[in-house]
Amino acid sequence: MNARVSGAQPSPLPDRIAVLVSGRGSNLQAILDAIEDGSLRARIVGVFSDKPDAPALERVEPALRWSASPKAFASREAFDAALGDAIEAVRPDWVVCAGYLRILCDAFVERFRGRLLNIHPSLLPKYPGLRTHARAIADGEAEHGASVHFVITELDAGTVVAQARIPVLSGDDPDTLAGRVLRIEHPLLLAVLRLAVAGRLAEQGTTTTLDGHALFTPLLLDSAGALRAPDTDAPV
Ligand code: GAR
Repeated sequence: MNARVSGAQPSPLPDRIAVLVSGRGSNLQAILDAIEDGSLRARIVGVFSDKPDAPALERVEPALRWSASPKAFASREAFDAALGDAIEAVRPDWVVCAGYLRILCDAFVERFRGRLLNIHPSLLPKYPGLRTHARAIADGEAEHGASVHFVITELDAGTVVAQARIPVLSGDDPDTLAGRVLRIEHPLLLAVLRLAVAGRLAEQGTTTTLDGHALFTPLLLDSAGALRAPDTDAPV
């Protein structure tokens, strides 16, 4: 209905999300599905990849895809500058690394700092980097999981907004564990993005804030897919 006729305030436009991917894109698909079913009020404005043949790219229409091979660039900085220019052109409110497996250079991180989120398959600060599932099993961890954090220049070291935990089972190998972690990654990422697009989440210096209050401990995903404050167990 026309807002002028009804007298209602026109609602603000949905937040614009750019997604960075390198592979399969199941996290991207979870975002797309949530937008489609109305549980995430956002718009995907571009999907960006360092792998021109990444299956994830196929999940969106060609007009939304950008990809380039880093081999075509003189340096890591030159690739990240081109990637950054392409992202900036779609004016994102949020830039989400959802299975983006290339290290971002400092200039890129600074360019998007404060609106740059990453999902990582471990309970950070444990196991930054690669092979997280194999390393958790080798160390005999009882618990493993996933984290969503703001990206800073140090790898996987930005403040963690929220985590989801699962037990490591006695028969787990890296693949079975990765599969179970992936199933909790999707609701975890969506729950954080709902806070982000609602304007409730911010990075201020080295602190993450929720509703303007510093978040000293990561939120925890419960079995119903809701985030809870770990100290009070209250849903947020
Ligand atoms: C996910 O497990 C994600 O956490 C991980 O890559 C996978 C991508 O899956 N990301 C990292 O390891 C980043 N360091 P997807 O392509 O199916 O979303």
